[in-house]
Amino acid sequence: EVVRLWSGRSQMELMLKKYLNIKDVIIVPGNVDNDTNTSMLLSQEAAKYLESILLNEHIIAVTGGSTIASISHAMTESSRWKDLLFIAARGGVGKDVRLQANTIASLFASKMNGSYRTLYIPDRLSEEAYMTMKKEPFIQEMMDLYERTNIIIHGIGDALEMAKRRNSSDEEIELLRSRGAVSESFGYYFNNQGEAVHHIRTIGVQLNQLQHIEHLLAVAGGAKKANALISYFKQAPLQTVLVTDEGAANEMMKVI
Ligand code: F6P
Repeated sequence: EVVRLWSGRSQMELMLKKYLNIKDVIIVPGNVDNDTNTSMLLSQEAAKYLESILLNEHIIAVTGGSTIASISHAMTESSRWKDLLFIAARGGVGKDVRLQANTIASLFASKMNGSYRTLYIPDRLSEEAYMTMKKEPFIQEMMDLYERTNIIIHGIGDALEMAKRRNSSDEEIELLRSRGAVSESFGYYFNNQGEAVHHIRTIGVQLNQLQHIEHLLAVAGGAKKANALISYFKQAPLQTVLVTDEGAANEMMKVI
């Protein structure tokens, strides 16, 4: 740790924490864009951090994506936790079940002796469906759980990459381009000033609910995500902790 204190990475952690204006930044060596070993380190570091803040009876909401999915795999199987509840922060996204918040919540729960609640509804809802769904008791229960959530673990993505992954229409992609969308998280798209320029109408954690959550753990790495990270952190709640890699950190440092 003493060595780490004076290493380049620790310096970068301090500088980025200040620049991004968040609680903490943890950087693992390498770049997930071209090194699978780094992906493993990233998820292990995120898993370790999660274990350090977890308390029995916590409610933990998780989003989807490959990064958060691999954290669930990196968690140490343990029966020492009591009454943890993992919930999906969002409905289903895209076609790959393995990357959906629902699946990831159940994986976390089985590893950590907890239970889980899912949101088996499409991620994207018409105005009509949204209004009807909101009145359903099981949805209201989920909304209530979001209000009581202690920890959120979430991914951050490049806006256009995410739009493609979601099979967004050409019109929607054009709209995102014209509004300068750079990053995406929680179904919200942000421009380079961190302004939400578009969002998917969905049941799930809403942006204004994040402020009240005690722990926000954002996990995203890779040089390709640097711009997306800078954009997202223009507006991120102060209590966020970012676990990232050198690939993303080095790129971000270029603009500081
Ligand atoms: O789709 C869920 C989500 O968390 C998005 O909000 C985010 O942009 C994306 O996944 C990140 O995905 P990945 O970890 O695969 O890059």
